[in-house]
Amino acid sequence: MNRNLALEFVRVTEMASIASARWMGKGDEKAADQAAVDAMRKMLDTVDCNATVVIGEGERDEAPMLYIGEKVGTGQGPELEIALDPLEGTTICAVGGHNSISVMAIGKKGNLLNAPDIYMNKIAVGPDGVGSIDIRDTPTNNLKRLAQRKSCSVSDLTAVILDRPRHKELIQEVRNTGARIYLIGDGDVSAAIATALPDSGIDMLLGTGGAPEGVIAAAAMRCVKGDFQGVLVPRNDDDIERAKKMGVADINKLFTMNELASGDVMFVATGVTDGSLLKGVHFKSWGAMTHSIVMRSKSGTIRHIKAEHHFDRKPNY
Ligand code: FBP
Repeated sequence: MNRNLALEFVRVTEMASIASARWMGKGDEKAADQAAVDAMRKMLDTVDCNATVVIGEGERDEAPMLYIGEKVGTGQGPELEIALDPLEGTTICAVGGHNSISVMAIGKKGNLLNAPDIYMNKIAVGPDGVGSIDIRDTPTNNLKRLAQRKSCSVSDLTAVILDRPRHKELIQEVRNTGARIYLIGDGDVSAAIATALPDSGIDMLLGTGGAPEGVIAAAAMRCVKGDFQGVLVPRNDDDIERAKKMGVADINKLFTMNELASGDVMFVATGVTDGSLLKGVHFKSWGAMTHSIVMRSKSGTIRHIKAEHHFDRKPNY
């Protein structure tokens, strides 16, 4: 994959983040998401590639734009697959909370799992925990192994978990181990990446979130050399059917990080609201400032891009 494409894709998440950030704190999730979708779609059309959305806003009949299977890009250039979330954390943005981002993972054809839009049980750790996780094992044992790896005690570890009623038992179990917990309202892609950031104070992501977000997070974890595993969690027969339709033969399969996002992958994200991974969009009299991260699994290079967007010279904003 041409590495220069990474910068082209940052322009896309920058545009989506600026558009949705205008809706920060306004209580309108739909409008915030729509603004991000419109901007991302428009900007993607300027990128020289022949890409297919494999993870997007939904099935073709439920999402008019950025639906699964939609072709994006100019049509000139490499054949790619894109897993995208124009606004990861719509509620966060609508309430003006922390950690909403605009995000894309890009791979060659066949590199990104076509995950069904159902739940996935996830576990993620940073580089110092690689090889220590097993999602089939208990959270207690996973935390114990990570503590051994990090030469600390379990009570020195912090797990990040989505604050949901379905996680009541998980939260109790983690509390019983003595580990600390950081409960988040939304946004488990940033939470997974946080496990690999030395200053985040987060050691492990545990719990169930969206499977599409799992693929995006796995691509990011490949770039930061962390580890990630996921198992689909169907709630009913309909979910099992959805998974089958997307080509998942074994619903109980343990997906490793490399099975979710294989080969040469890129990850780009721009902050919408301020967060631990990225600063959000800050509007100025002359335009806006954005903060993005661009990573490639091949080189392992992680770039932080701080951009000033001058609206008088960019009429599209
Ligand atoms: P959206 O961007 O679609 O709002 O998703 C936010 C999110 O918190 C994800 O990060 C997470 O994987 C998923 O929702 C969890 O789903 P649920 O809100 O149903 O528990």
